Formats: sequence, C-alpha cells, structure tokens
Amino acid sequence: MHFIILDSNTDFNGWRKAARVLAQNDVEPSDVTWTVRGDAPPLLEPPSAAHVFQSLEGSFNVSAKFVELAQSAILHRDAKRFAILYRLVWRLRGHHDLLNAADDPDIALATAMAKAVHRDQHKMQASIRFREIGREQHTHFAAWFEPEHHIVEATAPFFASRFADMPWSILTPDVCAHWDGHAVSITSGIPNEEAPTETRLEEIWRHHYAGIFNAARLKVKATQTEKPKPYWRNLPDASIIKTLIADTECWIGSGITNAGAASERRPEASMKRKSSSSAENIETLREEAASCHACPLYKNATQTVFGEGPQTAQIVLVGEQPGDKEDLAGKPFVGPAGLMLDRALQQAGVDRKKVYITNAVKHFKFVPRGKIRLHQKPNTPEIKACRQWYERELAAIKPGLVMAMGATAAQCVFGKLTPINKNRGHLIDLPDGIKALVTVHPSFILRQPDEDARAREYARLVDDFRIAADFLKKSARAA
Ligand code: URA
Repeated sequence: MHFIILDSNTDFNGWRKAARVLAQNDVEPSDVTWTVRGDAPPLLEPPSAAHVFQSLEGSFNVSAKFVELAQSAILHRDAKRFAILYRLVWRLRGHHDLLNAADDPDIALATAMAKAVHRDQHKMQASIRFREIGREQHTHFAAWFEPEHHIVEATAPFFASRFADMPWSILTPDVCAHWDGHAVSITSGIPNEEAPTETRLEEIWRHHYAGIFNAARLKVKATQTEKPKPYWRNLPDASIIKTLIADTECWIGSGITNAGAASERRPEASMKRKSSSSAENIETLREEAASCHACPLYKNATQTVFGEGPQTAQIVLVGEQPGDKEDLAGKPFVGPAGLMLDRALQQAGVDRKKVYITNAVKHFKFVPRGKIRLHQKPNTPEIKACRQWYERELAAIKPGLVMAMGATAAQCVFGKLTPINKNRGHLIDLPDGIKALVTVHPSFILRQPDEDARAREYARLVDDFRIAADFLKKSARAA
C-alpha cells in the first residue's frame, strides 16, 4: 500500500506529481491511500510525499481538459476526490476517450464535483459583503464566508481584481484570504465556534489579523473617501443601503442574487406544444453558465447574465451582451436598451413575458472610466466562446423563431458575420425548421442623431417586431 500525504486540501501540484509517478509505475488505484497532512494517523506519516517518490521514475501526461477538470474537482470537500481522480489518471492511460464518456461513473463523479465547486465559487463571488472595520489610515474591509468546498484560495484572485483598490480579508473556517493592495496571502481559518456575528467581525479581525498589513503598500489613496459608493448599487435592497449609511457602516457587495425571477420564468400552459424530454433544462443551464470561464470576460463582470423567459417560448430574442445595469441585476435588457425594447415590443403587440430573451455574450465587457463602466463591443473569440450557451438555450427551447437584434447577435445566430440591412425584414431559414429574423439592436435607436432619425428607426424596429407578432399569432393558431 502506498500512503500519499498531500500538503493541504488544495495541494493540486502535490497530487499531480504523485499521480503521475504512481501511474507511470503502474500502481493500482486500490493500492493507494490519499490523505492530507494533519489528517493522517501519525504512524503512517512518511517524512514527505516528495521523498516517497524520489525512487519512482518516469513521466506521464494527461490532456489539458483533464487537468482543468481535476483542478476544480480537487477543491471538493469529499475526501474520496484524490482517489477518484487518480483512478481516472490510471484509466486514461489506456482509454484516451474516457473524458468524453459522460456516463462513466468516475467521469460523472469528477464532473459533478467540479460543478459543485464552480457553484460554490459563484456563490462566494455573488454573496460576499465586505464591511469596513477600520478607520482613517487603518481602514480595512472584512467579510465572513462559509464555503462548502475548498475554494477560498482559488476564488481570492477574483476579489483581488474586483476590489483592487482596498485592503480586504475574507475570513472563513477553512482558511482566510487577505489582500493588501499588492498580493493575496492566506492564513489559517477561524474555528467555526468563533464565527463572527456582524458585531464581532471587527473584534475577530483585531484579534487575528490587525497588524499584519502594511497600509503603506496600498497605493490608491482614493479608497479613503470614495470606495464604498460605486458598490452600493450592488446591494439587493436599497432600503438596506440607507440603513447602512445611517449606521455609518459601509458594506461592499460583489454582486446580487437573482431571487424572485423564478416566478417570471414559469412556462405558460397555453404555449406548451413540444416535448422537451431530451432537451436540457434552462434552469440547469443557467446554473452551469454561472461559473463559465470560457473567455476572460467573467473576470471583471459581476455575474453571468443568462437568458430569461419561458422554456416553452415560441420566440427567442438575442441581444449583444449585458450592459452595466444587466450585469448588476443578473437579468437581460433591464437598462435603457431594455426600456426601448419593451416599448417597441408592446407597440408591435408582442408580450415580453412570452418571449425568451438572451444575449450572444453573457458577461458584461467594459473598460472602467472613473466611476463609469464603459461598454465595449465583444470580439469574435468572445462571441464564439459564448455561443455554446446560445446553442444549448436554443436546443432546450426549440423556438419557432429567433430574432437577432444587432450585428453581434446576428453573428451568433448565423455563426458568421451577417449584415443587418441586407437581411432585415424577412424570415430566413435556420436548421431544424427554425426561422430567423434580423433587426437592429434597440440601442441603435438611442444612438440616432436627431428626433426624426430616432422616430424613423423606431418605426422600422416596430415593423420588424410586427413580423414576429404575426408569426406568434400563426403558430398559436396552428397549436
Ligand atoms: N444590450 C444588450 O444587448 N443586452 C442587454 O441585456 C442589455 C443591453
């Protein structure tokens, strides 16, 4: 029996090194016991994992896809994860297609673990609320979080880039992550029995950590006066903000949850016309997309803004990408372009609640300009990376009609650059019997130089939606 003792619960490199040498030397998974230093019975602890493997030779490579899966799954709290992943490494030597076998029990287990880890990371990103616990030069922000899995070290860089201008600490029972404006550091966790209540956060902070930071290293002076404000709007309830301000306590939120939206998404019985037994469920897709890292846009966005509407919708509307308001609310088309869309849909006789609305790209792309986040057009690699979600939404909904609003949406819907004016105003065939319509993006109306141009373009947009309304009427009659 080989006893492998990893340095920590997140010691991916130690696990990888051990797994590679074990597999190369044909050590059966059943002959390996994996533990984490401190958890193993003392008599079993060899001097170090590295020492054990010095005598074993050879190298063994696995695909980048497996490494990505293992890097996430290893953060799961289940103690069996190291063994499951090693079993996969061992089996991958003779079964190169194993990763594509979704019904393989080991693959299913590892994938489920990776998904649970991504969900937990997203929950941490969306729910952490920092509280200012110092004043003057020693100001500091702290938050308490209880992760389900070992995600703190892996998720800390998100907060470092999101809240780069302020020193913060995220305290958890596992480990604590700290940012001094310069680097992330990790210290041991706070025991559960010491878990801080709101009022004890400051006390805990002072007891454990005050003094370990060098405020001089924090370069951004503006944090003293301005830092909380840009983030107040991220809080779920404005009334809470007022109370917090009144209390002269400042909280900072990294995102808001999407509570309450579920009732709006309930399918309408009258529209039911198709079996979706083999199709994916939109809610499951939404959950999965919440931790999408297919392109770098997730790094600065608050959250994935997935599509919204009934899964039985006959019409899918596709926009470009969420804007500032959508990014904060987690819902598509709730800002100025959304108001324009609502108005035009209503005038054309299309009920927004009956259509499914989504975007070609599901993270907000922007550049910060002072307090404003300036929208940036997504590029082709970003549109391509995100297209999997549109394809899966379409497969789940199976609409009769897809309406692409603007050039980015048209590129997503047709899978290639598609000029708007040339294709506008008539139904176009897509695969699987789906029809497509192309029109301008609602924000195009807002960008028109004068009132006349705005009125003219708005009328054309309404005309395009009328084609969709006719389509809706015809398919309702046919149902
Ligand atoms: N513009 C879009 O394309 N989508 C939104 O969700 C909002 C603005």
